[in-house]
Amino acid sequence: MLSNRSPATRGATVEVEALTCRYGRHSAVENVSFSIAAGERVALIGGNGSGKSTVLRSLLGLHRPQSGRMIFDGQPAGDWIARRRRVAWVPQFHHGGLFPLRVDELVGSTARHATVPRALAQFALDGMQARLTAELSGGQRQRAYLARAWAAIEDGATLLLADEPTASLDFDSRDRVAAWIAQLPVGALVVTHDTALAACCDRVLEMAAGRLREARR
Ligand SMILES: Nc1ncnc2c1ncn2[C@@H]1O[C@H](COP(=O)(O)OP(=O)(O)OP(=O)(O)O)[C@@H](O)[C@H]1O
Ligand SMILES: [Mg+2]
Repeated sequence: MLSNRSPATRGATVEVEALTCRYGRHSAVENVSFSIAAGERVALIGGNGSGKSTVLRSLLGLHRPQSGRMIFDGQPAGDWIARRRRVAWVPQFHHGGLFPLRVDELVGSTARHATVPRALAQFALDGMQARLTAELSGGQRQRAYLARAWAAIEDGATLLLADEPTASLDFDSRDRVAAWIAQLPVGALVVTHDTALAACCDRVLEMAAGRLREARR
């Protein structure tokens, strides 16, 4: 566990109880329960297709679970997220958007305009604010989504949900993300296949075939 975070650490509590998700008749997540304490960073690992993204997407309200309860700060997750911009989200797959979207528009979509330049600098995107996200490389686009999450947290989001945030990144960018997670001022659920990134978290949960295994440490 890393203990070099500022005393200003803040965060939402998350409780997931008996989450079960299906795609048609296919069972993707089966009776998964876990909790995240305020400010705690939890890595979610596991093989391809084990259900990690489905858990994250359910927490965000992007997938409707078959059954189960998700509680953020004592409130149903959907109500909690809808009320304010409280969650910073890094999706696994990044597309350029259905409509032309500039990098600064993406990064500023969940933060104040004034925060955008600092967010771009955090992920080495200085000077790229006017570029269209659809015209970036895969790693550059991933950095733009990371910058969006950074800006959202800077402006008050209290939980980071990140799905393979280092998957397309070069070594320097991976180091930046690891350093960010290590100092993160809020709690997080970070899906990853990157052992160095998992090591920056306080706890590791592992999924296999839709079920949660015991924590590794
Ligand atoms: N839209 C979908 N329709 C049908 N089945 C799906 C859909 N999305 C995911 N699945 C299936 O649900 C299961 C869990 O998928 P999920 O994307 O949650 O896995 P994951 O752990 O995130 O995998 P990866 O490490 O490859 O990203 C898999 O068997 C997958 O094939
Ligand atoms: Mg996934």
